[in-house]
Amino acid sequence: MFFVKYPILKSIKIFLYSNMRVNEGRVTIKIPSFDKVSSKAPVFYNPSMELNRDISVLAIQQFQKEKKSKIKIADLFAGSGIRGIRYRLEIEGTERVLANDINPIAVEFIKRNSELNKAPVDITMEDANILLRKNRGVFDVVDIDPFGTPSPFIESAGYSLKDGSLLCVTATDTSSLCGTYKKPCIRKYNAVPLKTEYCHENGLRILTGFISLTLAKYKKYIKARLAYSSQHYMRLYLEIGKGASKTDKSLKDNIGFIYHCHNCLFRSLEHGLLPILPRECPQCSEKLDFSGPLWIGELEDENFIKGMIRSLPEKKLNKKRNILKLLKLLKGESGMPPTFYDTHKVCSKMRISAPPLKKIIKTLQEKGFKATRSHCKATGIKTNAPIIRLKESIKEVYS
Ligand SMILES: C[S@@+](CC[C@H](N)C(=O)[O-])C[C@H]1O[C@@H](n2cnc3c(N)ncnc32)[C@H](O)[C@@H]1O
Repeated sequence: MFFVKYPILKSIKIFLYSNMRVNEGRVTIKIPSFDKVSSKAPVFYNPSMELNRDISVLAIQQFQKEKKSKIKIADLFAGSGIRGIRYRLEIEGTERVLANDINPIAVEFIKRNSELNKAPVDITMEDANILLRKNRGVFDVVDIDPFGTPSPFIESAGYSLKDGSLLCVTATDTSSLCGTYKKPCIRKYNAVPLKTEYCHENGLRILTGFISLTLAKYKKYIKARLAYSSQHYMRLYLEIGKGASKTDKSLKDNIGFIYHCHNCLFRSLEHGLLPILPRECPQCSEKLDFSGPLWIGELEDENFIKGMIRSLPEKKLNKKRNILKLLKLLKGESGMPPTFYDTHKVCSKMRISAPPLKKIIKTLQEKGFKATRSHCKATGIKTNAPIIRLKESIKEVYS
């Protein structure tokens, strides 16, 4: 079945709600008024996710340009409908958008908002897993933006996604992915997290690794086009490929473990699914901590991000500046190894005050190392220099 219409919900009297108007991108929507953002609101809308939706519009547009054909998009957790409606009106080459939500009140508001914006979207009221199972191989883009963890929906996405499609995923359970709470991370993502200065990047890698391993059973593999962590959430854009041997190769090349020394900040990588434990730090002989299995391959695709930057709209300068800043940082991270050093933490271990980041980056580059900022932390440096060489470079800045 393709795009099941939702049942007529005569019992839901949406006129009983006092409404507020929201303008975002090229759309205006009406939603029930709210005092604070809450999953308990009659219809969920979070203004602080505007950046997430702005970047999604750019990323899906770039994907459509590369595909050179019309695309069908599934907004599986549509809420007010703002995301799907924006996709319909702001992304060129969109053939159909399906806006789905399990909440009947949300579905009524999606209908109203699509009419208000003259945006023809198909509307369904299904559990996201069931919708994915019913529509195998239908969508070019599947957007998963649930409350908290996307983990319960990845299996059905693996079943449903077709070769050459794009999977967009949001996770707001950052405390699990970043290792504040270890057990929920193991439960939801079957991976051991690591509470370090680069825990947000590590969280992105756990989420990507989990998706890659889940899709592998359907002989599907991923190519990360864009991944970032912002405020209270993580967001991934993954292109899907199909084939047993390519999936095997992708797991072999990209799944592994990160080892970390909390004493001297040394870290290393290991490919594979079986960590070798316990391990001693080769620099200071302390016991190494570890995280994984996770994605140790590329998270950013330079050309994809360049394309997104090129299509940034000219207007709305302030907003554009923030998006451009983030995209430039992410572009710089492509081709860089996993993890980063927090220069303040390194300098505190060295018992010196931290010199300007720019100077450290310049010194590392002069020594022939790659070095760039991390989008996750303002004081972070991504580099292929080992910790000893980084410490030497920091000392040199002062000499
Ligand atoms: C975080 S909100 C979505 C926000 C929306 N994507 C946006 O950008 O404004 C999550 C939505 O998922 C819906 N939802 C929760 N569980 C669901 C499920 N199993 N299937 C489909 N929708 C679900 C909720 O009703 C809620 O509207």
